[in-house]
Amino acid sequence: MKKVKKAVILVGGFGTRFLPATLCTPKELFPLVDKPILFYHLKECVDSGITHVCLVSSEEKHSINDLVNPNAKLIQRLKTQNKMALLDSYYSVMNKLKIKIVYQKEQNGTAGALACAQDWLNGDPFVLYYGDDLIEADVPAAKQIIDVYNQTGKSVCILQKVKKEDIHKYGSAVLQKIKGKDYYNMSAIVEKPKTEEAPSLYASIGRYVLTQEIFDELDNLQAINGEYYVTAAINNLAERGRMNATVVCGTYHDCGNKLEFAKTITEYMLKSEEFGQEYRKYIKNLAKKL
Ligand code: G1P
Repeated sequence: MKKVKKAVILVGGFGTRFLPATLCTPKELFPLVDKPILFYHLKECVDSGITHVCLVSSEEKHSINDLVNPNAKLIQRLKTQNKMALLDSYYSVMNKLKIKIVYQKEQNGTAGALACAQDWLNGDPFVLYYGDDLIEADVPAAKQIIDVYNQTGKSVCILQKVKKEDIHKYGSAVLQKIKGKDYYNMSAIVEKPKTEEAPSLYASIGRYVLTQEIFDELDNLQAINGEYYVTAAINNLAERGRMNATVVCGTYHDCGNKLEFAKTITEYMLKSEEFGQEYRKYIKNLAKKL
């Protein structure tokens, strides 16, 4: 069985939910404390044994390139001023990855974006990331699903149990227990169901190990409002008995939603080594005034 050493991260969307902020900054680069969201994904890749990453972007999102190829004048300045240590955490991740950026010409959905990475993948299995789904975990989320893939050779979806009133925002998984295993067989995923029609409260949270079988499914998709969705292809794989799923050990943060993103900033600030204590005092004082 081929090892998972590659990841594809989808960062090409318009970010309309965050307009007007996304007119100038892609949402994947919004900072959490002092690092862009995308950087947390790249760190998770390194910590999960991934060595090669493909960012599916769009030509207009110049700052995605700037993260990968930093401003040469700035680097020169830091070198002459002996301040390269300011980028230690950056290079500790970037030096361990080979990153390729490919451009999605037309924003026609996640399936169209994934298709742009097919040549680069060259037949290898990979971890697929949605740019705005952050998972905080002791064992990195990508490693959790790679561990399941290593046992079965099938594609894997990561899940989190959500509240009944929230399931309509997610893909809801149809699951079967497998005796003696801590992962499930997933026979379908129902995208954004009505609460009363959801098959379970286990929601897909934007991380998958996918084998090359996914590309056969991409060819057979129907467009929904002119867009093609990876989840439809994943559902086809599931219906063919080719998907497993596992419940995440960790916390999911939906950074594609304004309120959830604001909460995520607070949580990361509270956990920050540099600012945590001060920030806690500030929040406590603020709470007294509410
Ligand atoms: C996507 C997927 C959905 C998943 C969600 C969270 O939806 O289509 O199945 O539950 O991400 O990862 P989106 O949030 O892009 O609408």
